[in-house]
Amino acid sequence: MFSQIQISPDGFAAIYLAATVFFILGLKGLSSPKTALKGNRNAMIGMTIAIVATLIHPEVRETTWIWAGLGVGAVIGIAVALKIDMKSMPQLVAALHSFVGLAAVFIAAGTFYADLSSGKPLGGATLFELGIGSFIGAITFTGSLVAFAKLQELVSSNPLVFRGQHLLNALLGIAMFGFTAQFVMSGEAAPFWVLTAIALGLGFLLVLPIGGADMPVVVSMLNSYSGWAAAATGFTLENPLLITTGALVGSSGAILSYIMCRAMNRSIISVILGGFGGEAAAAGASAPTKGVKSASVEDAAFMLENASKVVIVPGYGMAVAQAQHAIKELVHTLNAKGVEVKFAIHPVAGRMPGHMNVLLAESDIPYDIVFEMEDINSDFSSTDVALVVGANDVVNPDAKTNKASPLYGMPILDAYKAKQVLVIKRSMKAGYAGVDNALFYYDNCSLVFGDAKAVCENLTKTMLAG
Ligand code: TAP
Repeated sequence: MFSQIQISPDGFAAIYLAATVFFILGLKGLSSPKTALKGNRNAMIGMTIAIVATLIHPEVRETTWIWAGLGVGAVIGIAVALKIDMKSMPQLVAALHSFVGLAAVFIAAGTFYADLSSGKPLGGATLFELGIGSFIGAITFTGSLVAFAKLQELVSSNPLVFRGQHLLNALLGIAMFGFTAQFVMSGEAAPFWVLTAIALGLGFLLVLPIGGADMPVVVSMLNSYSGWAAAATGFTLENPLLITTGALVGSSGAILSYIMCRAMNRSIISVILGGFGGEAAAAGASAPTKGVKSASVEDAAFMLENASKVVIVPGYGMAVAQAQHAIKELVHTLNAKGVEVKFAIHPVAGRMPGHMNVLLAESDIPYDIVFEMEDINSDFSSTDVALVVGANDVVNPDAKTNKASPLYGMPILDAYKAKQVLVIKRSMKAGYAGVDNALFYYDNCSLVFGDAKAVCENLTKTMLAG
C-alpha cells in the first residue's frame, strides 16, 4: 500500500524528529490535569507518525504481519479500554509493561538468531545491546506480572520476605552480568538464554517482597524499565525513534518514581532492591486501643452546612464508590449555602499517580479548588470541617508520630488539624498499608459509616431538605 512512497534517509530523520517532538509535547501536557487531554492527543499523533514511518520504511519489505499485529492489537486495545474501570488502571499499566518487556526479549532473541542464520558476524557492541535488551526486558516482564497479580489481588499484596533474600538477589545480579559478559565474548546462544532465565527469576524476586505503601513506586519503576528495554531494542534494530521514545519513557518513569519516593519518604534504592516497605509493615500493624465516635448523616450534614470552610480529602474509597459526581453535587449545595469548599490531594492517594485528579476532572469539579498537598496543608488549621471521603493512609497521623508504623516518615495531609474531621468509610478496615489509623481515635474525629457515594448523596438530600 505504501510501497510507492520514496523518502530519503534525511526525510526519515525528520519524520522521527517530528514524532519525538509530539511525544515530548504529550509528556508535557500530561503534567497537569488541565492540559492532559491535549497531551494525550499529541502522544497519539506522535504514535500515528511512528506507525506510518514504520510502514513506509524501505527496510520493511513485507507488511502483512505488521498489519495483522496492528489489527489484533487495536481490537484488544479498544476492547480493554472500553471495559476497564478507573480503579483497575494500575493493573492494566502493569500488564502493558509486561508486554513491552516480553517484546524486548523476543526482539533480542529474534535479532540474534536472524543474524546468526544469515552468517553475518555479530560485533561485541551488538551482542552487548542484545544482552542488555534481553535482561532488562525479562526483569520488566516477570516483575510486571507480579505487580499485576498483587494489584489484581490474585496473590496477597503482603510482602513475601525470606532470610537471605538480598544476598540471593545480589548473587543472581552478579551471575546475570557474568553471563552477559560471556555472551558478549563468545557470541553463543547458551549464555544468552542463561542470562535471560536469571533475569526472569530476578524480576519475580525483586517485586515479591514489595508490599503495602511501596507498590506505586514499583509500578512506576517498571514503567521506567520498560522504557529502557525499548531503548535497548532501538539500538538493536538501529531505530532512532525507538531509542528516543524508550529513553523518554525510561527517564520520565524514573523521575516519577523519584517524586513518589519523596512524597512517601522512601529511599529509591531500598525500593528497587525490594523488601523495604514489608519489614516495616510487619512491625507496624497496631490494634485499636479505644473506641471511635460515629456520626449520622444528619449530624454530618449539620456540621457541614454550619461551617465556613470545608476541605474535602478524597482517597481510594471515592474511586471504589465512584462518588465523584455525588461529591460535586455536595459541593454545589455547600457553595449555595455560602460554604467555601476546597479539595486536598495527596500525591499517592488512590492507586495510581493522579488518580484523584482524573476522577474529579471527570465530574467537572473546577481545577482552581483542587490543591496539591504542599499547597493546602497550611489551610487545615483554619478549616472548620475536613471531610475525608474514602481516604485512610494519606491522613494517618501515625506517619508523623509512630516510628513503628510502615507509614512513618510519609508526608500526610494534615486533616487532623481541622476543628472537626468527618471520615466517610464503610467499616473499620485498614487502608492499603494494612494499618490502623490513629486519626479515627482523635477527639475531633467522627466516622460516618457507609458507601461514599450513598453517604454523599444523602448528605446533599438532607441539606436540601433542611
Ligand atoms: P487507602 O489507604 O487504601 O484507604 C482507602 C479506604 O477507602 C479504606 O480504608 C476503605 O475502608 C475505604 N473504602 C473502600 N471502598 C469504599 C467505599 N465504597 N465507600 C467508602 N469508603 C470506601 O486509600 P488512600 O488514603 O487513598 O491511600 C492510598 C494508599 O494506596 C497508600 O497507602 C498508597 O501508598 C497506596 N497506593 C497508592 C498508589 C498510587 S500511585 N496512588 C498505587 C498503589 C498503592 P472501608 O473498607 O472500611 O470502606
